[in-house]
Amino acid sequence: MLIRTFAAFIAVISAAGLFLALGCKSLPPSKPESQWTPQEARGAAVYHTACARCHYPTNTRGLNGPGLQAITKVPAMPSGAPPTDERLTNVILHGRNMMPGTSLDDQQLQDLLAYLHTL
Ligand code: HEC
Repeated sequence: MLIRTFAAFIAVISAAGLFLALGCKSLPPSKPESQWTPQEARGAAVYHTACARCHYPTNTRGLNGPGLQAITKVPAMPSGAPPTDERLTNVILHGRNMMPGTSLDDQQLQDLLAYLHTL
């Protein structure tokens, strides 16, 4: 009897774990590096210099800030704001709470936005 209860408990925990794992996997896939346009590749270089020390590009786990996988494909960013280019530009240039603003010229900004859309 006790064993059966325990087995049921394990079954429920595994189902929950599977659900969570599938939930994480359900993010749309990033565009592979081999398919980047020249602009996206330039944006990746900007990201590497200005963002990578605080944000993972390939998952949503926290580093200093939230991981940015699929950031332009989710309905809302961690703050709740929709991930429009306008909002992203605002966060990137002016920062938000613990995130400092980054000064980029227009070309770098457009390249970075193109790259963020590949994530
Ligand atoms: C020094 C660390 C740091 C750097 C550098 C940094 N960020 Fe952030 N970022 C953060 C933190 C911390 C947050 C969480 C801010 C909050 O909402 O409280 C954040 C949040 C964000 C968000 C989510 C905004 C929202 O509305 O939820 C985006 C998108 C983002 N950063 C993009 C970038 C990009 C792109 C760069 C490079 C230009 C960058 N960050 C550079 C620390 C950083």
